[in-house]
Amino acid sequence: MDIEKLRQSWKRGSEFLGVRYAILGGAMSWLSEHHLVSAISEAGGFGVLASGNMPPELLRQEIRRTREKTDKPFGVNLITLNPELPELIQVVVDEGVKFCVLAGGLPKADAIGALKDAGIKVILFAPSLPLAKRLARSADALVIEGHEAGGHVGPVCTGILAQEILPALDKVPIFVAGGISNGNMVAQMVGLGAAGCQLGTRFVCAEECIAHENFKKSFLRANARDAVVTAQFDQALPVIPVRALANKGTQEFNALQLALIKKVKAEEIPRDDAILELEKFWVGALKRAAIDGDVAHGSVMAGQSVGMVKSIQPVAEIIQELVGPIEAVLEA
Ligand SMILES: Cc1cc2nc3c(=O)[nH]c(=O)nc-3n(C[C@H](O)[C@H](O)[C@H](O)COP(=O)(O)O)c2cc1C
Repeated sequence: MDIEKLRQSWKRGSEFLGVRYAILGGAMSWLSEHHLVSAISEAGGFGVLASGNMPPELLRQEIRRTREKTDKPFGVNLITLNPELPELIQVVVDEGVKFCVLAGGLPKADAIGALKDAGIKVILFAPSLPLAKRLARSADALVIEGHEAGGHVGPVCTGILAQEILPALDKVPIFVAGGISNGNMVAQMVGLGAAGCQLGTRFVCAEECIAHENFKKSFLRANARDAVVTAQFDQALPVIPVRALANKGTQEFNALQLALIKKVKAEEIPRDDAILELEKFWVGALKRAAIDGDVAHGSVMAGQSVGMVKSIQPVAEIIQELVGPIEAVLEA
């Protein structure tokens, strides 16, 4: 491994985020609220608040609560599909948040512009090399997230994205996500030129994560192969695949998708409204499992790395495991 490259990439990521360790706690709807986010930032990583479908005033409260628990940097994740995106952006601007991650489809130029005009650093998801090159013109940093990840996923695996994009694009820091669970993998990615890594699945079983006990137990029991991706049944209704532990909730999603396809084809509902309805399903289903504990019918969104989540641990311990190998190499 090129140690000098490792050192420079790691430094680039931590300086960009203003943290000790360039480890982002990827936003997870319902779970990445002030407890988990502040714990990650306090431990030297970079927490990201998930706004999900929160009303703007709740997001404001969450930002303030996070600030009460930490004075370290953290970011806010906004979903571009959200009809209240402009109001949510206004909250982020008003509250003086320094970093915003825009997820859930390609963001419009005016959304990026509104954030940048307020001096907020914008982090975008790049699903392919051509798009990464395009997005790097307006974003301050990128996340490349592989198919192994939990939640909404793109089609390409982390290893391919990393090999394709990291050597070809140096304009902005690039953080790698999807299927990363231990410190050796973090070191490998940074050695390839990543500015750091983003993890979601690994943080679900953190002590500070408010996930229901049943949700955490499902994670502890699951193997990699249990975290499967939903299918798209018809091009009439494009579906962003979601990776979750297979259960009755997955079947309910399939039934809803089929019903909506019929409605779209019969022109009873516009396609975009149907897409939004599917997204609302996920937000509700995730709450049902993650907060209410109904892991049979709700959505247990999890990445393939779920098989490596073996215990409930404090965030600080998880972060130390993730950065141990890289720090050891750099110190040596
Ligand atoms: C339960 C769950 C909920 C998630 N919710 C969101 C979200 O609201 N916004 C988002 O950008 N990513 C979301 N993600 C993706 C994570 O932010 C992160 O990028 C991903 O988990 C990284 O891959 P990993 O699961 O393999 O660690 C979610 C992931 C999980 C597991």
